[in-house]
Amino acid sequence: MNIQDQLPPWADFQAANRFRRAIREFNSTPVPQEDVEALLAEAVYAPSSGNLQPYELHWIRTPALKELIAKACNGQKAAASAKELIVVVASPAIARKTAATQLAHLDSSSTLAEKSKNYHRKHIAKFLKIIGIGGLPIWTPLVSVAAMIRPTLSLLPVGHIGSRHWAARNAVFAAQTIMLGAAARGIDSCPMEGFSATKVARLLGLPRGSVIPLVIALGYRHDDARIEERWRRPMNDVVISH
Ligand SMILES: Cc1cc2nc3c(=O)[nH]c(=O)nc-3n(C[C@H](O)[C@H](O)[C@H](O)COP(=O)(O)O)c2cc1C
Repeated sequence: MNIQDQLPPWADFQAANRFRRAIREFNSTPVPQEDVEALLAEAVYAPSSGNLQPYELHWIRTPALKELIAKACNGQKAAASAKELIVVVASPAIARKTAATQLAHLDSSSTLAEKSKNYHRKHIAKFLKIIGIGGLPIWTPLVSVAAMIRPTLSLLPVGHIGSRHWAARNAVFAAQTIMLGAAARGIDSCPMEGFSATKVARLLGLPRGSVIPLVIALGYRHDDARIEERWRRPMNDVVISH
């Protein structure tokens, strides 16, 4: 089949992208569990640096826990009225676990050519060095100084903070996939960073070194939900041609 024939229609993508709004109040209609499962299944196809997928998607299914997490979201209505909550968790440790799983997959794969396997093994070894030795706290002050002299170096995945930032920004692609996927199914969402990370981490029993880039609320927009006209910077301000 021609690749052009497999392309999803642009109009469908655009409709989903425009439908997605940050909704702060959901109605009482439950989100079918199979819909949430479908969204999470698509989220795992999100891209990530070195394919190290340094995140987990915590689907909060227990009502009592959901209530506690919602409270930890600074009492936001979006969280309190959400039908489903997904907590996005990231850490370099998850990346290390992925690397080990991927190496085992390479060893056992009967379909990948030896050349591909060696390429990926080399690639993983390089990343493991960066987030292994490179993730030690000893590098953090050095990265701070380097970033002061050369601000573009601020995003280096080096040092204990840098490697957690790296994991968090990788997780965001999966989060966006969930929200756009939700929109494509007529489900509303709200990305939230207004929460107590310490409380949420404690409630989920997250290991030390985990960070929480986002909590995603899912549901269907309430008739009273405040949905204002969308404002964005003009294209010529956002897009710089070179
Ligand atoms: C990283 C991030 C964190 C956000 N945190 C919150 C939040 O805590 N509470 C909230 O009501 N909206 C939150 N938002 C939603 C934004 O306010 C919203 O996306 C923005 O105003 C644009 O509106 P739109 O998403 O409807 O286009 C967050 C969005 C992002 C991307």
